[in-house]
Amino acid sequence: MASDDASDYVLGHSPRELERLRRQGQLVNPITWQFLIEAGIAPGMRILDVGSGAGDVAFLAAELVGPSGQVVGVDQSPDALALARSRAKEQSLANLTFRESELSAMAFDQHFDAAIGRYVLCFQPDPAALLRKITRWVRPGGIVLFHEPDRKQMRSYPPTPTYDKMSEWIDETFGRTGMEVRMGMKLYSTFVAAGLAEPTMRLHAVIGGAKALEEVHFEADLAVTLAAAMERTGVVTAEELGADSLIERITQEMSANQSVIVGRAEIGAWTRLEERLSSRERKQNDPSRDFVRHERNATLSAEDRLLALPVRS
Ligand SMILES: C[S@@+](CC[C@H](N)C(=O)[O-])C[C@H]1O[C@@H](n2cnc3c(N)ncnc32)[C@H](O)[C@@H]1O
Repeated sequence: MASDDASDYVLGHSPRELERLRRQGQLVNPITWQFLIEAGIAPGMRILDVGSGAGDVAFLAAELVGPSGQVVGVDQSPDALALARSRAKEQSLANLTFRESELSAMAFDQHFDAAIGRYVLCFQPDPAALLRKITRWVRPGGIVLFHEPDRKQMRSYPPTPTYDKMSEWIDETFGRTGMEVRMGMKLYSTFVAAGLAEPTMRLHAVIGGAKALEEVHFEADLAVTLAAAMERTGVVTAEELGADSLIERITQEMSANQSVIVGRAEIGAWTRLEERLSSRERKQNDPSRDFVRHERNATLSAEDRLLALPVRS
């Protein structure tokens, strides 16, 4: 089972993994961008990006909401947040802040217009329970949007054996460490189980031939990040995986057969909250209740205190 403990997060936050997240972002950001626009993310909104990692989704949201909007990215990893903050500084993005927190323990004193996240629910032991908690920070009528993978839709044609085998090993390793490899397809039932209205859904995929090197890296880099976990969980030895020659072998097979590889299904799901809440829901969703509890029970860092101040729009 996946755990809430940052140390159990299977991909970790090594410099290589953070670089992989950035590289992956270059391929999938256009897909996430389309989801954000279709879901209704617009200038002036306040957005909560959960599991923000190196910040890619938060940067997209910051661009869409513009200087009159605001984005808060939350992650459990100080290393990922340090990188996200330095990237935000490089881009002079003033409408974007990052804070460190376990997602189930987040506390704010104000609702957001939308909560968004990419590749986050798949790592949670109980995604519906977490989604319900996240949703409490969204105002009535606000948007909830997630972009998650369905890895079982990966394929190659004509077959590229090394790519197909590598995908199986990645899936098996994720399965053994508690990641839900079909999270994208489960977004529908997860939204409904969290008490949300049935989501609108879209599916895209990264696809390419032997010259599309970034597309080959897309999954091969993930296999390299997971190499130690593959060995630890008994899926495959480092020797069998052969991380150093993986990309070369895949591209050689692709060239020989003019094969095309298809990455995992990139699935977006979004919905809007009811405009009006029952009085019971209003009480449950009152951010000041949790904020007061949080203030009493925890010592907030200086940065958290600043972020907890009412957000001006
Ligand atoms: C695969 S990365 C995705 C990062 C980013 N959303 C993106 O698409 O580039 C998942 C991130 O979620 C964070 N995360 C996962 N579960 C979390 C939890 N329960 N609380 C806080 N952060 C969490 C991890 O630390 C990691 O940085």
